[in-house]
Amino acid sequence: MTDSSSLPERPATLDQKASSLDEAQAATELAYLADVISRADKAYYDESEPLFTDAEYDSLRRRNSMLERNFPALVREDSPTENVGAAPSNDFAKVEHLVPMLSLDNAFSDDDVESFVARMRRFLKLDGSDALAVMAEPKIDGVSANLLYRNGELVRAATRGNGRVGEDITANIRTLKDIPDKLTGDDFPAEIEIRGEVYMSWESFQALNAQAEKNGTKTYVNPRNTASGSLRQIDPEVTRSRPLDFFAYGWGGVSEPFATSQFEALQKFGKWGLPINPLVKRCETVKDLIEHYNLIQSKRSELGYDIDGVVYKADLLEYQLRLGMQSRAPRWAIAHKFPAEKAETTVEAIDIQVGRTGSLTPVARLTPVTVGGVVVSNATLHNQDYIAGYRRTDKGTEKVTHDIRIGDKVLIQRAGDVIPQVLHVVNPDRADRGDVFEFPDTCPRCGSLAVRDVDTKTGEEDARVRCTGGLICPAQALERLKYFVSRKALDIDGFGEKQIELFWSRNIVKTPADIFRLPDAIAREGFDPLGTWEGFGETSARNLFAAIDARRSVPFARLLTGLGIRHVGDVVARSIATSFAKWNDFHALMWAAGEVSEGLQAYEAIRLGNRLTDRVALALFDIELGEDEGEAWPNPLIEALHGAGLTWRGDISETLSTLFADRAAFEGEMERLKPVHAAFRSIEGVDGLGMAAANSLIAFYEEPHNRDVLRDLVGAPDGGGGLVAVEDVEVVEASADSPVAGLTLVFTGTLTEMTRDEAKARALALGAKVSGSVSAKTDILIAGEKAGSKRTKAESLGVRVISEADWIEMIS
Ligand code: IVH
Repeated sequence: MTDSSSLPERPATLDQKASSLDEAQAATELAYLADVISRADKAYYDESEPLFTDAEYDSLRRRNSMLERNFPALVREDSPTENVGAAPSNDFAKVEHLVPMLSLDNAFSDDDVESFVARMRRFLKLDGSDALAVMAEPKIDGVSANLLYRNGELVRAATRGNGRVGEDITANIRTLKDIPDKLTGDDFPAEIEIRGEVYMSWESFQALNAQAEKNGTKTYVNPRNTASGSLRQIDPEVTRSRPLDFFAYGWGGVSEPFATSQFEALQKFGKWGLPINPLVKRCETVKDLIEHYNLIQSKRSELGYDIDGVVYKADLLEYQLRLGMQSRAPRWAIAHKFPAEKAETTVEAIDIQVGRTGSLTPVARLTPVTVGGVVVSNATLHNQDYIAGYRRTDKGTEKVTHDIRIGDKVLIQRAGDVIPQVLHVVNPDRADRGDVFEFPDTCPRCGSLAVRDVDTKTGEEDARVRCTGGLICPAQALERLKYFVSRKALDIDGFGEKQIELFWSRNIVKTPADIFRLPDAIAREGFDPLGTWEGFGETSARNLFAAIDARRSVPFARLLTGLGIRHVGDVVARSIATSFAKWNDFHALMWAAGEVSEGLQAYEAIRLGNRLTDRVALALFDIELGEDEGEAWPNPLIEALHGAGLTWRGDISETLSTLFADRAAFEGEMERLKPVHAAFRSIEGVDGLGMAAANSLIAFYEEPHNRDVLRDLVGAPDGGGGLVAVEDVEVVEASADSPVAGLTLVFTGTLTEMTRDEAKARALALGAKVSGSVSAKTDILIAGEKAGSKRTKAESLGVRVISEADWIEMIS
């Protein structure tokens, strides 16, 4: 489920012990973790499309905390430990919660629960005979909501957002029949924020999907995401049509005390007409807690809604107050997560799926088996190494278990909404095992060579094998089309995978532009789709054509996402769109770089042929050779690279002299490659982006076939052609007195008055551009405390450097 195409490069050190890293490696990882965790939060809370499984996400957070503990000096201003959830989106009004909405730490074992209770006891200085009652409540797997009641009337409802500020979803919340507009009774506080979980029952979820299937529209992934998406509809009538339920579990701001314990509070909620989960229990001992946890787990498959664990909370509010909170979570509560569910079954076949970006993923076809109430007949085998028994360990990738073969009995695991996976072979010593599975070295769909990925940072081979066929490969082309119309990209209503497959199989839609020619093609070819094609009646045809028409003008970011370029998912696409604002500026820059196509090949040859890091290869562009002092070529070039502080493995002089026969050839080549250089640098300058995105964008534009597709779809940058108009990003009209309108700013160091995110948001609102790296194009560097290399670089480039105080004065 991880859409790694939109994520930054994964540091290779992530698989090593945290304590074995040096400062530089730890800093790189912390930057990576801050980035991916904030993207994951945004994807989860904002877009309701998780990037990671819960387990993956938790392990990223754990890694981050571990590194912060080992390297306290490296804790970042934008450390994920300080943030909960994602920034509120722009579609809804923002609402500041009276009291921030916290998150919970996790417990995964009975021991963790034991330590949690012991920790609270120690903190409260309780001795053995003092009671410490703890509530155990099902952890509902939905979306949290904050409902503000004034004098018993619901006046406002908000999502959690970033924990401090959420989105106003009052109109949508009012459509939930579980949530009373007015509280009953008269013993409620004058003002109270009721907190609880909005969820969708399995029954409603299945009914909704059955309907979607019937309409030929996209089906929903799981109840939680559907609940989240449904709550965040612009039109409350859409929310009304999606049956949502609610359980209240807590509160935030309150005008006066109304209870002395969590237990009593929940009783009151019930009396006021708010739904309370029936499986809550007050426990006196750890043993009771575990027992109740087991009971809830045993009922999990009959509940009719998703839960993903049990939340324990110190019952007495006085204790809660004393325990307080630590960074993003309270000390008085913890979530005891359910383990992944497992079962045994047989591998009947191993198929290879070809993804949108050509990755070959092996999938086990299994004898169907029920795991935690769900019938599983497919499971991922991840990659070639995984089948062969290699796993990632503390020491890197090692062979730790038997290889997986057709006919093997295997243990499979399903955690939450994650794709099930095969863990290991159950009886590997069996005499009659089948043959070792041979992973193909050509694409099973187009026959092109399939090669292993190479990590662009280290030059090491990756476990993933990719088809090199590009758009020649029908599997890739088809997957790309599906992605093009998907929700993240063009989001053409009523145009899902089924429709793409239908039009593809009839040779009507082969490229994105064909979609916009569809109505004409159907008229011209004399097709009579109306009612004669299964699942495609007159009304759906008309609706489809209208939906296509509505997308004849598309936002910059959606179009770019839709191109399905590796490392350029929706998040990256949005950053690029915001930074460039004008589609044509971006398009022209990339187009020019792509046209000098051999340049990129030269770059790739340097990089891959010598396992150079991207930095070294890119540095060639920046080098200015001094006076010729008669030194043998390519020594001056190598010295210049050394002079720029760069290192590499092995001897590169031979490659450099092969690529550039002499100084004149080098200078000529660099001159010719100027457009590539410009493109690299400007993509790299987009806040938070790295080489991987720049690399694959240029590689995309380099391919003549891709430029043809673009010319056809949106026109070439010099104008002419194009069926679709691309909408520029509206730059917030900076008021005449905005001192930073149109300037490019970079923030560095620790800001004390506002978070980095807030500072960036303010800058953008004032019409400035914010970049992640300092270059000659930077207008101002805002240097907070402990500003380091960026400050030095800015000073060397003569860029204006100001303090945080100057910045605040400037914008106030
Ligand atoms: S208490 C400070 N109780 O789990 C305590 N949370 O990771 C805040 N959740 O955002 C939460 N059921 O959306 C609490 N019985 C329950 C819950 C519950 C589900 C969700 C909630 C919260 C998340 C914590």
